[in-house]
Amino acid sequence: MAQSLPPIRVLPSTGRAPAALDLRDVRDRPLRDLRISVTDRCNFRCVYCMPKEIFGRDFQFRERDELLTFEEIERLARIAVGLGVRKLRITGGEPLLRRGIEDLVARLAAIRTPSGEAVDLALTTNGSALPVKAAALAAAGLQRVTISLDSLIEERFQAINDVKFPVKRVLAAIDAAAEAGLGPVKINTVLKRGVNDDEILDLAEHFRGTGHILRFIEFMDVGATNGWLLDDVVPSAEVVRRISERYPLEPAAPTHPGETAKRWKYVDGAGEIGVISSVTGAFCGDCSRARVSAEGQLYTCLFASSGLDLRELLRGDAGDEELSGILAQHWGLRDDNYSEIRAALTPGSRKRIEMSYIGG
Ligand code: GTP
Ligand code: 5AD
Ligand code: SF4
Ligand code: SF4
Repeated sequence: MAQSLPPIRVLPSTGRAPAALDLRDVRDRPLRDLRISVTDRCNFRCVYCMPKEIFGRDFQFRERDELLTFEEIERLARIAVGLGVRKLRITGGEPLLRRGIEDLVARLAAIRTPSGEAVDLALTTNGSALPVKAAALAAAGLQRVTISLDSLIEERFQAINDVKFPVKRVLAAIDAAAEAGLGPVKINTVLKRGVNDDEILDLAEHFRGTGHILRFIEFMDVGATNGWLLDDVVPSAEVVRRISERYPLEPAAPTHPGETAKRWKYVDGAGEIGVISSVTGAFCGDCSRARVSAEGQLYTCLFASSGLDLRELLRGDAGDEELSGILAQHWGLRDDNYSEIRAALTPGSRKRIEMSYIGG
C-alpha cells in the first residue's frame, strides 16, 4: 500500500537563525535525540547482552572500514541537529574501545544548533577505560557519562560481565568520571528476577547522597540472544515500593519531555533515583530517539528490524541538503511504538537487532 508523506511544518523564520524545521513523525513526535554507536565490540560479555556462546572467538564483528568515520559521524550529527536533534549520545558496544574517541567527542562538542547553542553530549560506557580516559573526554567537551553496573557483589558482578571484571574498578570509574566533571554520573542497573533483585536496597544505599543518579532498568526483550522471559522482569513499581519502605521517595518532574527514566527524589534530600520501565510502562508516546549503528544504519526504534543505510548515502554524492531531506522524510514516516504493542505480538514473530550492535 502506498504511504502518503506526513506534513513537515516549517515555522516562520525569526530573521536571525535559519527557519527551524518542526519535523514530526506519524505519531506527532519530534526528532530530539541521536544515539550514535561507534563500535559493535565490547570487552565485557554480559550474559544478557553478549553471551559468550554467540559472541565467541570466531564472532565476526564489523571491520574497521565498515564503520562510519569520525568525519561521517560529525556530518551526520550536524545534519541531525539542523533537523531538531538537541541530544547526542555516544554508545556501542563499548564506545571507549574506539580508537581516538576523544577526537569524535571534540568534533561533536563543536556542533551548534541553528540558534548557536551547544547540544547535550553524553556517553554510555561500562566504565572499564574511564579511569584512564575521563579527563581527556571532559577536556574534549564531553558533558556527562552513564555507567553500567548491575551488582555490588564481586562474584555476582564478575559472573554477569563474564570476563572477571572487578566491581571496584567500576566504582573507581564512577569516581574518576565525577572528578573529571562528567556528572551528574548516571548508573544503569539492569534488574533481572532471581539474579540481582535482592540488591535493590543495597544499591540504593550505596549511591544515596553521592550526587550520582542510580537508574533501575527493566530487563528488555532486545535482540534474539538474551533468552528474555516476562518472568525475568522486575517491575519498576516494585523497585520504588521497596526503596520507599526504607527511604521514602516522591515523584519528581521530568527534566525534559520524552525522557526514558521516571525520576524519584528521596524525601530526606539524599538525591534521586530513576526507573526505566520499558516493559511495564512503555514510553513510546513521546519517544524522540533515533539510533545509528556503528556501520551507519539508522534505526528509528530500539526494536526495529531494519534501518536506513546512511553510510551508502554519506559515501555517495548527496549533498547535506539532500541528506537532510532524506532523513526528514524517513522520520516523517516513522510509526514505531514497539513497547506499547509488545504484549500483543506473537513471540519470535519479529526479527530484532542486538543491543550491543545498536547501542542501548
Ligand atoms: P539521559 O537520561 O538523558 O541521560 O539518557 P538516557 O536515559 O536516554 O540514556 P541511557 O543510555 O542511560 O538509557 C538508559 C537505558 O534506557 C538504555 O540503556 C536502554 O536500556 C533504555 N532505553 C533508552 N532509550 C530507550 C528507548 O527509546 N526505548 C526503550 N524501550 N528503552 C530505551
Ligand atoms: N534490557 C535492558 N537493558 C539492557 N542493557 C543491555 N541489554 C539490556 C536488556 N536486555 C543495558 C546495559 C547498559 C545499557 C547500554 O543497556 O546494561 O546499561
Ligand atoms: Fe558490553 Fe554493555 Fe553489552 Fe555488557 S551490556 S556486554 S558492557 S555493551
Ligand atoms: Fe522508542 Fe521504540 Fe523504545 Fe518505543 S520501543 S520508546 S518507539 S525506541
